[in-house]
Amino acid sequence: MTGPPRSDTRPFLVFGAPDIQEDEVQEVIACLRSGWLGTGPRVARLERDFAVYKGCLPSQAAAVSSCTAALHVSMVAAGLDRGAEVITTPLTFCATVNAIIHAGLTPVLADIDPATQCISPEAIEAAITPRTQAILPVHFAGRPCEMDKIMAIASKHRLVVIEDCAHAIETEYRGQKAGTFGDFGCFSFYVTKNMVTGEGGMILGRNEARIARARVLALHGMSKDAWHRFGDKGYKHYEVVECGFKYNMMDLQAAIGIHQLARLEQNWLRRHAVWGVYQQAFADLPIGLPTEPDLDTRHGYHLYTIMIDSNRCGIARDEFLEQMNAQRVGTGVHYLSVPEHPWYQQRFAWRPEAWPNAMKLGRETVSLPLSGALGEVDVARVLSAVRTSLSIQGA
Ligand SMILES: Cc1ncc(COP(=O)(O)O)c(C=O)c1O
Repeated sequence: MTGPPRSDTRPFLVFGAPDIQEDEVQEVIACLRSGWLGTGPRVARLERDFAVYKGCLPSQAAAVSSCTAALHVSMVAAGLDRGAEVITTPLTFCATVNAIIHAGLTPVLADIDPATQCISPEAIEAAITPRTQAILPVHFAGRPCEMDKIMAIASKHRLVVIEDCAHAIETEYRGQKAGTFGDFGCFSFYVTKNMVTGEGGMILGRNEARIARARVLALHGMSKDAWHRFGDKGYKHYEVVECGFKYNMMDLQAAIGIHQLARLEQNWLRRHAVWGVYQQAFADLPIGLPTEPDLDTRHGYHLYTIMIDSNRCGIARDEFLEQMNAQRVGTGVHYLSVPEHPWYQQRFAWRPEAWPNAMKLGRETVSLPLSGALGEVDVARVLSAVRTSLSIQGA
């Protein structure tokens, strides 16, 4: 095996590095100087701008501290019965499943379609029991789930739908934006996401009463947030109307998000282009490539994932990760399937083999750098690092 040089001194190419520009820096400084760092006018502006981007009313968007928080309060606000079953995918970040559990509900896994890597509608249908009350699809890597089929199943069985849109801000399915199909859509602005606020998230809610409840739940169950108590309209009393959580977004975070959202489409175009370069450049390699998006959909291009099958590639997935690292190129794994983790095995007696498509993919998948911040030199480094890791010459 040729392998990378032993002491590569090039700077480390960070996986998922955000594209932060001067606008964000200046807005954060202005926020710091304004004397108001907490939830206030900048959060309200981000909610308005996000609602406009999604074609929703401002009252249908609520900013929160993370997508995990968004998922949790959405499920509480949905008013599901304690212990009710929520069907989701085994190929997701642990936060999706943890949020179900924290909401007092029972996660039930339905396997993915290996081509789309999203939850299979047929597997959802097969997992429904009399205790099922919700479906939680994840638009994996930014590719939309088959929402026509999922919404038909939901309406047939009267189920709530909560979309995990952590990868899918720009995603559309047959002309409709991700996060607007279900009762709730939950978004992440974590540091590696398509738009970032450091930590942060957004909830979109179809029903205005339910989203209003989610907003109250996200701030201790208080009827008024701090800006509405201490802001420029004079002090106002609040009432605690239920026992909520501390999940509010700060203006300091929204200061970043406002400008990230303004450049969302520009960054999407860049990731779209890089995704296309990878697809072409790797077409002759013995690795698995992501399926091209369906024509009537818009992919969010959040992750570019290849599959390393050791029999075809002559290298195991984890060894490939090490080879990439030795060339100072950051990678990710999205994800080892949820039942691979010990806690879920102990708590639910889950075994990865019960969801074979997610298990296989989780053991073979590698996410390559895909961010609006990637320059041509960075992309060229990724292309050559993949070939070198596979001991294949020439780019
Ligand atoms: C699919 C998915 N769901 C939920 C989350 C949780 O997002 P956050 O970190 O904003 O809580 C993530 C974050 O990585 C994710 O990838």
